[in-house]
Amino acid sequence: MSLLLIAPDRDMSPWANALKDEDPNIDIEIWPEVEDKKKVHFAVSWNQPKHVLDQYPNLKAVSSLGAGADHLLEDQALPKSVDICRIVSPSLIQQMQEYVLGAVINIQRNFVHYIRQKDHGKWQAHNHPLAKNLGVGIMGLGELGQPVATQLAQVGYKVLGWSRSEKKIPNTTTFAGTGELPAFLQQTQVLVCLLPLTPETKDILDLDFFKQLKKPAWIINVARGEHLVDEDLIYALDSNILQGAWLDAFTEEPLPDKHAFWNRKNIIITPHIASITKPKEVATQIIDNYKRALSGMELNYRVDREKGY
Ligand code: GLV
Repeated sequence: MSLLLIAPDRDMSPWANALKDEDPNIDIEIWPEVEDKKKVHFAVSWNQPKHVLDQYPNLKAVSSLGAGADHLLEDQALPKSVDICRIVSPSLIQQMQEYVLGAVINIQRNFVHYIRQKDHGKWQAHNHPLAKNLGVGIMGLGELGQPVATQLAQVGYKVLGWSRSEKKIPNTTTFAGTGELPAFLQQTQVLVCLLPLTPETKDILDLDFFKQLKKPAWIINVARGEHLVDEDLIYALDSNILQGAWLDAFTEEPLPDKHAFWNRKNIIITPHIASITKPKEVATQIIDNYKRALSGMELNYRVDREKGY
């Protein structure tokens, strides 16, 4: 029996080493060099090519390499009988908290402007709101969204949260369902998208959505590029509906050279680094799920195919 690692754009040897350190008895294969496809019972996968996951007749479960599992849910080649799970780890949470807090502080305190002004020898102060008066709205209150909200509240921001079903989080004003979305948006000035990508949330960040935010407004997208309608963002920035956008995820990655986002001063771009899975941090979790899959036990952090997360 073997565990297969699939991630075409990454060097997977650190993953194989971390898993071997955790359990030297497990056979590990790295795609595409697979000795015996029948031996593969569990896979760990990130951005797998189409028509790969249907080649392993004994595959029982597949784990995402990260927090999101949309690449697995939308893969037509993955048989419906195969369970899906994802990574939930303190290190992913901590990194996401750092990233979002850093972005929010940069936006609130105008650091982006000051960094640019220095290049032109310009001494000019800009007003900034007090943290307690800045509405930071987190969309998606799951394993990452909740701790991000809690930390922003600890720092003193006015934190709002929105999710599909009702959630209670200390020091966060929460809203649920489409009915409460307008009320959430009207009080939100910095919108943080941490939603899972599902048919309902695809293209959710569109012009109509931006218009409802409290002005001046920013968006931070640390979820998926497909949540955002790129043309609507450009239009909203050009017409002062939005003041800026801080983006870590894009529909096409790497972001193509000719993409309109590159030339916009008020779009900050980071190359999908908000929260990176470190092999050593999650080896125990993966091996545990591998053993659970082999013995027919319920997986930890199993993804509900109906809900899409
Ligand atoms: C990264 O985007 C992840 O899903 O972990």
